[in-house]
Amino acid sequence: MSILITGGAGFIGSHTCVELLESGYDCVVIDNLSNSSEEAVRRVEKITGKTVKFYEADVRDKKALHKIFEDNSIEAVIHFAGYKAVGESVEKPLMYYENNLTNTLVLLEIMKGFDVKRIVFSSSATVYGSDNKAPLNETMPVSAINPYGRTKLFIEEILKDVYSSDNSWSVALLRYFNPVGAHKSGLIGEAPKGIPNNLMPYISQVAVGKRTHLNVFGNDYKTADGTGSRDYIHVVDLAKGHVKAIEWVLSTAGCEAFNLGTGKGTTVLELRRAFVDATGVEVPFKIAPRRAGDCDEVYASADKAKKELNWSAELGIEDMCKDTWNWQKNNPEGYDK
Ligand code: NAD
Ligand code: WQD
Repeated sequence: MSILITGGAGFIGSHTCVELLESGYDCVVIDNLSNSSEEAVRRVEKITGKTVKFYEADVRDKKALHKIFEDNSIEAVIHFAGYKAVGESVEKPLMYYENNLTNTLVLLEIMKGFDVKRIVFSSSATVYGSDNKAPLNETMPVSAINPYGRTKLFIEEILKDVYSSDNSWSVALLRYFNPVGAHKSGLIGEAPKGIPNNLMPYISQVAVGKRTHLNVFGNDYKTADGTGSRDYIHVVDLAKGHVKAIEWVLSTAGCEAFNLGTGKGTTVLELRRAFVDATGVEVPFKIAPRRAGDCDEVYASADKAKKELNWSAELGIEDMCKDTWNWQKNNPEGYDK
């Protein structure tokens, strides 16, 4: 049974391939390598001892996608492919709408043509906007505060409409909180291009000597130590959540959103301290002004995924820090060696 993984060479996609292969699924990956490297796919094969069928192609390329469905017996799709940098989406909204929305529309059209109606979509906690109070649960109103978030919101709506038009579809909208960490082998991990936007890769690049210090964006938030608090989730736990979501779409018809988070918040300074304690490596920091668009505290209610997918996160902050460091110190330049 083959699962098509769009964006499968990326950070979350590569970890998900490992968990799918280890659970007995065959993986077909389509990725245009716009934010990743084929080496990640090779390393997935090394970790698992299994083969991944890899297509270097763009999901917007109808012909290429059609051929993939023709050549493989695809049972379900996990749709990771898309752009994900919030700041860049504010500067280049059309690029974000064009890639994230168009690739989804092309994918859905081809899936429909081949009567493949099971899809797991990479949504984000960003769809909770800034007005809801944590713990965030799936019944809360959704909104978006930047073009990236709006692409997630629009795609969720598109998928809901597709399900409404034909109730034999099965759609899992996975709302990730803050994915961090790496596979414990140290062979795959997050490899951001340029200066990292996110906290954990920034911390690990300071630790490895690529950056001088961490800028802590604001220390006057309404949290225990004044720095922003987020729900960090180990990427391997997240990947396992996708296997559970695949089991769900293969066994049910429906369209449901599920939070994938731990249910716990950690502040910037707590994460930095945990990283130093877990690795023994210093991470100098300076308090800097707040970053536009950030809020005090974001964490999930993880109850629905536990009840309906039989999934909950198992790894803690210490594992997230240790595994990030194991990846970073062995691959200071990511996959480019
Ligand atoms: P990533 O950039 O590492 O992975 C995305 C992959 O998609 C990349 O390998 C990229 O080359 C590929 N891609 C992009 N556009 C494509 C296209 N048109 N055709 C084929 N391939 C294409 O990002 P990630 O962190 O693994 O995120 C995966 C998904 O999860 C994204 O949709 C992202 O928005 C979502 N998400 C990520 C986070 C996070 O913090 N990492 C949080 C919430 C949601
Ligand atoms: C975490 C905390 C920062 C960097 C983003 C997207 C979201 C989702 C996940 C995709 C905040 C602080 C950060 C730094 C810092 N992505 N920080 N110094 O903002 O919660 O979520 O990634 O869907 O949509 O918005 O994550 O890692 O950027 O920030 O002090 O150099 O770390 O202010 O409090 P965020 P993050």
